[in-house]
Amino acid sequence: MIKSICCIGAGYVGGPTMAVIAQKCPHIKVTVVDLNEARIAAWNAADLSKLPVYEPGLDAVVAEARGRNLFFSTEVDRAIEEAEMIFISVNTPTKTYGVGKGMAADLKYIELCARQIARVAKSDKIVVEKSTLPVRTASAINEILDHTGNGVQFQILSNPEFLAEGTAMEDLFAPDRVLIGGDTTPEGQKAIQALVDIYANWVPKENILTTNVWSSELSKLTANAFLAQRVSSINAMSELCEKTGADVNEVARAIGLDSRIGSKFLKASVGFGGSCFQKDILNLVYIAKSYGLHEVADYWEQVIIMNDHQKRRFAKNIISTLYNTVSGKKIAFLGWAFKKDTNDTRESAAIYVADDLMGEQAHIAVFDPKVEKVQMLSDINYLNTRSEHDNEKLLSTFSDPYEACHNAHAIAVLTEWDEFKTYDWQKIYDGMLKPAFVFDGRNILNKHELEKIGFVYQGIGMM
Ligand code: UDX
Ligand code: ADP
Repeated sequence: MIKSICCIGAGYVGGPTMAVIAQKCPHIKVTVVDLNEARIAAWNAADLSKLPVYEPGLDAVVAEARGRNLFFSTEVDRAIEEAEMIFISVNTPTKTYGVGKGMAADLKYIELCARQIARVAKSDKIVVEKSTLPVRTASAINEILDHTGNGVQFQILSNPEFLAEGTAMEDLFAPDRVLIGGDTTPEGQKAIQALVDIYANWVPKENILTTNVWSSELSKLTANAFLAQRVSSINAMSELCEKTGADVNEVARAIGLDSRIGSKFLKASVGFGGSCFQKDILNLVYIAKSYGLHEVADYWEQVIIMNDHQKRRFAKNIISTLYNTVSGKKIAFLGWAFKKDTNDTRESAAIYVADDLMGEQAHIAVFDPKVEKVQMLSDINYLNTRSEHDNEKLLSTFSDPYEACHNAHAIAVLTEWDEFKTYDWQKIYDGMLKPAFVFDGRNILNKHELEKIGFVYQGIGMM
């Protein structure tokens, strides 16, 4: 039975996942390591509101397990040496250089991890891929680990993460399924069993699925591609609704009641974001292309093309509605995160919409309940569209939503934070320039009520 686990990478996946394993398995010592000292310090902070990842319910779990059997540290080598099982939860962003630029996953961090494990390990280890990885990464890790020449045996498992940010704790407590891929050899099966036994501490056995490594790796990409495809499909319909007078919310409700289709992931929006969807689909496209499967590649690429179109279309609509000029106008953004209940902004639609509007010299005034100003500026600077100096002139942030909206020509809702619905919209209206516009990129506000106050309201997929 495994008594000691180490997880390399203390991010959105590694942190919450290990916190839950530690809470549910008090007999296992769980050490989460990261190169980033500030991040580890934040995980160790006495003030639980300072944790680097915001996830409802995470603070309570950390409070319970931290210092008991959950530890956060920067001593990577020591943690590797001590652990019987090592989870790799480092980031695998899309490559920004060289072959596969803009499509393939950058496996630099994964390879560095594998080399570090190979260098440090003195006893046999089970290595678990937790990060989303392109199919056949396990074999690359395997090769690196097998050529250490020090006689240590490694087993590689794929155990993809299906948690969604904002609901990570619920997803971890009661996962639809846990997927574990491993070698079909007896040693591989033994390693699989060791990981099954860990999850079995709180997940019903019938929800733990075991497969070969490649099926497990590809299932993760497939799940995300299917989910993202639903969003792009409903978003495609939203544009048609705006032309025909159909209401996309009504259409979604009508088709969602068909049990073959189901009601989830049918919310029309300004576009999906997050660290997974785009990256995983690009990965899938890249893999398909590399096997010469061009139709397969084109099929999935269209999901991304639709998503880019939806973001761009939202910005264009704001510009044309505001009489084709937003130069010097203040446009308030409610929300910057890619969805509610997270402080994560990776690939958030807000970044791209802001960039388009700033290209027309609009002044963007952002309020987000959980995202820091430095993060917003770094997101916009990362696009490299204009100088950092210009970005700072055009993008300002507010810690009070009413101030963000004061003297604005328009409000754009980019994240579906619940609190936005409870604001005093009359007060917001009174502080704005007239006519006052609301562009609801998440369809969360009440059109009828806002129109009664005097707003000009436009949601996604309705006239
Ligand atoms: C996703 C997968 O759901 C998860 O299983 C995987 O492990 C990681 O990627 P996440 O990126 O955290 O999780 O968020 P998710 O809830 O899937 O939403 C992704 C994006 O799609 C968000 O920007 C969200 O706002 C958007 N979305 C989702 C819609 O626009 N409409 C919907 O109906 C659902
Ligand atoms: P995810 O959403 O996949 O969890 P994050 O970017 O939030 O991604 O977290 C990944 C973490 O992995 C980062 O905190 C990063 O510092 C860490 N990391 C990357 N490479 C290494 C490495 N070789 N050793 C330790 N930590 C690493």
